Amino acid sequence: MLTKLESDVQEILLTEKEIAEKVKELGEKITEDYRDRELVVVGVLKGAFLFLSDLIRHIKLPLSVDFVAISSYGDYTETTGVVKIIKDLDESIEGRHILIVEDIVDTGLTLDYLLRIIRARKPASVRVCALLDKPTRRRVEVDIHYKGFEIPDKFVVGYGLDFNQKYRNLPFVGVLKPDIYAGK
Ligand code: IMP
Ligand code: MG
Repeated sequence: MLTKLESDVQEILLTEKEIAEKVKELGEKITEDYRDRELVVVGVLKGAFLFLSDLIRHIKLPLSVDFVAISSYGDYTETTGVVKIIKDLDESIEGRHILIVEDIVDTGLTLDYLLRIIRARKPASVRVCALLDKPTRRRVEVDIHYKGFEIPDKFVVGYGLDFNQKYRNLPFVGVLKPDIYAGK
């Protein structure tokens, strides 16, 4: 039976199985690339929390986990490009290897802003791992070293991604029916 949450989705873009396979593959690649090094995995709240928790179980290295929260001003589905940190990292990152974990890169503005802040703190290295990429919407170039999937320009929810703070608990990534956010 379709739950209310599931029936708000018009199309499943990525199934639970497809996501799990990709996350495992990304984790294995990261493990290989950072062999003999220690990582600080930085999750961007809230959207990346689910992806991060699955991903780090496939990274067979000593690592610590930290989080930042960034707010972008705008309506529910469009960012204005004005961003600010609302929760900073707890740990010092100077001289350390940083892996930023994001749910989705859309315009790139959030990540560009975060990368500037992180680089200013003199880490040994910084790379980005993003589950989803909407390349057609990019406004600033950002280098995504580890990328899960490229998706079309559609508003998606599930597997951590929300609309109006809901749908994060769907186990798949799906396209929300436009009438759900129309008029908001
Ligand atoms: P950017 O700054 O435009 O790259 O936006 C990145 C942030 O916007 C992501 O971290 C998400 O939180 C949010 N976002 C962008 N596209 C979507 C989407 O399709 N569904 C849900 N959230 C999205
Ligand atoms: Mg996000």
